[in-house]
Amino acid sequence: MKKILFVCLGNICRSPMAEYIFKNLLNIKGLGHKYCISSAGTSSEEAGNDMYWGAKDKLDEKNIPYSKHKARQLKQEDYKKYDYIIGMEAYNVRNIIRIIGEDREGKVYRLLDFTDNPRDIDDPWYTGNFEVAYNDILEGCKGLLKHLEEKQ
Ligand code: 4NP
Repeated sequence: MKKILFVCLGNICRSPMAEYIFKNLLNIKGLGHKYCISSAGTSSEEAGNDMYWGAKDKLDEKNIPYSKHKARQLKQEDYKKYDYIIGMEAYNVRNIIRIIGEDREGKVYRLLDFTDNPRDIDDPWYTGNFEVAYNDILEGCKGLLKHLEEKQ
């Protein structure tokens, strides 16, 4: 079973959206048993909080199921526990490395690097644009799943 951890800054917008969007893709394709999916944030600011309402509203609009979320901060031990640690933007990736130390096993990636148009995912907490975040995350999740399934 491959273990994947999506990471953003607060763990209340982009990374939980990625967690539930990816889980939904797995369920649609009947691949849920092959993967363990979770999310975390590089900051402790929102630790313990539920997903932001703007992210929940967007998932509701797109009929993506989600459960009660409890934000948590990324820990150094996560590096051992997960096979893939996926940041939303270059800034996240730098902060992930700061927490886990050197990426010796090449587990850390940026989500949209799994697409034909590698780029950062803007933070909807600041932009207010959850539609753009949703579309970017979906594109990245599809690219990541294709990469993972082709590897096997
Ligand atoms: P996220 O968005 O990284 O996509 O969860 C943010 C949520 C909260 C904060 C920053 C980013 N904050 O500073 O509280």
